[in-house]
Amino acid sequence: MAISSTERGSWNSKLGFILAAAGSAVGLGNIWGFPTKVATEGGAAYLVIYLLCTFLIGFPVMVAELSIGRKSGKNPVGAFKALSSNKFFPLVGLWGVICGVMILSFYTVIAGWAFGFAFEEIFYYLGWNAAADLLTDTGNGWKNAIIASVFMLGTIKIITGGVSDGIEKATKMMMPLLIGIIVIMIGYVLTQDGAMDGVREYLLPDFSKINARLIFSAMGQAFFSLSLGMGALITYGSYLSKKENIPQAAAFVTLADVGIAFLAGLLIIPAMYVAQAAGIDIFVGDQLASSTNLVFQILPALFHTIGGAVGLILGVVFFLLLSIAALTSTISLLEVPVAFVIDEYEVPRKKAAWGVGLGILVVSIIVAFNTSLIGTFDNIFNNFGLPLGGLLMCIFVGYVWKTDSALSEMELGFAGVKQGLFAKIWPIFIKFICPLVIAYNVYQGILGML
Ligand code: TRP
Repeated sequence: MAISSTERGSWNSKLGFILAAAGSAVGLGNIWGFPTKVATEGGAAYLVIYLLCTFLIGFPVMVAELSIGRKSGKNPVGAFKALSSNKFFPLVGLWGVICGVMILSFYTVIAGWAFGFAFEEIFYYLGWNAAADLLTDTGNGWKNAIIASVFMLGTIKIITGGVSDGIEKATKMMMPLLIGIIVIMIGYVLTQDGAMDGVREYLLPDFSKINARLIFSAMGQAFFSLSLGMGALITYGSYLSKKENIPQAAAFVTLADVGIAFLAGLLIIPAMYVAQAAGIDIFVGDQLASSTNLVFQILPALFHTIGGAVGLILGVVFFLLLSIAALTSTISLLEVPVAFVIDEYEVPRKKAAWGVGLGILVVSIIVAFNTSLIGTFDNIFNNFGLPLGGLLMCIFVGYVWKTDSALSEMELGFAGVKQGLFAKIWPIFIKFICPLVIAYNVYQGILGML
């Protein structure tokens, strides 16, 4: 029995696809991870390397993933099976599904922190200090587990709605809201004392800070932020109509992702210096405060210093923004294993979404009680797993399926692509430049884990 197309689903419109894929891309990685890494890894120098990784390596890989997905019309495992008889590559798809599952398991916990902080701001304003303190305690297992569960149930609910009625509708509403909120907050922060010090740190590069570690970190960040390397875009590409122009859609998604990361940096780096001007300690030794501290301690401290209704509104809005961005990403992380179960085991969507979602929730709850697992999972499945997946996908498209077959798939929605400049440059990136650069990073990742 073949899966009916209504069971698989498809995007209603091009804009819907772009917003969903951009929603997948824009998440904690952009608003939490990126500014943090800019702050700790060399300011504007990091920004420059990140942009190079995104456009020179990420974008070509995204085009490859979308082409695999649309040609095969399948989940990552099914896609590799459909496009070649090689027995190894479906395992690459399976590795992608596993990375997605594991990333989702800790992603919901961090998303839960963000969601909890939106309420913390309200409780703080009301003077309910015990409740507010509970929500700021990122190590509280029960609290983490409960909020992560709420987040996961929301994600499952949207996925059961299917591709166009669930994912597409939800992201179409959330993405414009998100951009609006960021822009308004930037407007506020940049007019505050100290903001310009942050803008300088963010935009004036000191190239002496570039080293192998910075490049490794920027590459991992680019893959994670663009949602590359685990077949999320194979899956989203499988719902894409043959009329659409793949390189153009990929360009929109890449620009949206970079644009929002850039804006988030422009919000958060200056906000740190505003916090400093307000008397909050933002340095740990001579390093800027990093990761969890930055977004989950310094920003709330800033909102509290601002105080009153303005502090409350900024705080609530910021953490809701972070939650919305996270939700459009958890949707894509869950959709991959769900599509895998729907396609390969012919399970109806609702059953697949609940079964897979609740299974991942069990892992999430374990992470909720043992938050030190986050760093470990992040290293294995994100920093190492995604570039590895991306590398193998380049090898697949470059040498097994062949870039020419991918270009033929692109041609359906992009007449004349084979005669243009794109067809001359993109294959060189997929066959040589991307695999070499990514392989170097995978190697660094292995060294880092030893
Ligand atoms: N890109 C998202 C972020 O920046 C995270 C994410 C969603 C992701 N789906 C993915 C990462 C698929 C890798 C693969 O937060």
